[in-house]
Amino acid sequence: MSTTFTIDTSASRATPTPAPMKRLTVPGIRARKAQGFTAEPIVMLTAYTARMAQLLDPHCDVLLVGDSLGQVIYGLPSTVPVSLDMICAHGAAVVRGSYHSVVIVDMPFGSYEVSPAQAFESAARILKETGAAGVKLEGGEAMAETVAFLSARGIPVCGHVGLTPQAVNALGGYGARGRSEAEAAKILRDAKAVADAGAFAIVVEGVLEEIADTITAAVPCPTIGIGASARCDGQVLVTEDLLGMFERVPRFVKRYEAVGEIISGAAARYASEVRDRSFPTDEQVYRPKK
Ligand code: KIV
Repeated sequence: MSTTFTIDTSASRATPTPAPMKRLTVPGIRARKAQGFTAEPIVMLTAYTARMAQLLDPHCDVLLVGDSLGQVIYGLPSTVPVSLDMICAHGAAVVRGSYHSVVIVDMPFGSYEVSPAQAFESAARILKETGAAGVKLEGGEAMAETVAFLSARGIPVCGHVGLTPQAVNALGGYGARGRSEAEAAKILRDAKAVADAGAFAIVVEGVLEEIADTITAAVPCPTIGIGASARCDGQVLVTEDLLGMFERVPRFVKRYEAVGEIISGAAARYASEVRDRSFPTDEQVYRPKK
């Protein structure tokens, strides 16, 4: 499969080159787990821009427009300040840049917690403005009613339990969750509650491995792990983490490249060539046509 395609803006994004394959669907992702078993693990990565979506799309099942874009793209201290305007703009870009993966968009903090009706209004805006197939929201038992409300009204919901970064102010940091028996039991109850409410998948983040394994065995829908367990039904990482864009490498991240160093090196060579006037060369300037 080609790794990139050209968006023919003169026609419409419905005619990218090469001709697109059929996009995966939420029911297809949900059905990967049957009778408690997932033969083909679900591959999820974050994407925030059209070009990154183009590059990731052929290799992924799900692209997540995560609210981690607050830190990764906007340099914010947490996901808390991320707005619906921000997530909708990036969600639409990712849908435009993909034709294979299911695109899921994070519901920003403050856009869904008040009531199921508030959540429906925000999620409907996200689906209308982006073309994404579903939303992800954080929380367990407290959000079960909302997950059921959205699911019953045609909005696929991916749950998110364990370490829930939008609750950083309440949690006091981003450390792994479930180290006490009571907290482990609560995380399991959270996962069961959102699964029972109709979530089509659940992200399980930053929990002790045993908890992720217990949840994966206990819920009928797929679990997508991040800092969780290799036995989850799928895995997700923040793409910029696996690319090596940041100096800090949390324990759950595997760096597959050192792209940050490549970018910095390219910028340094460019700066040096501008300063010594060796860029541009004859090859990069326009001359009258002969
Ligand atoms: O916002 C995000 O990128 C996420 C993933 C880390 C699961 O929620």
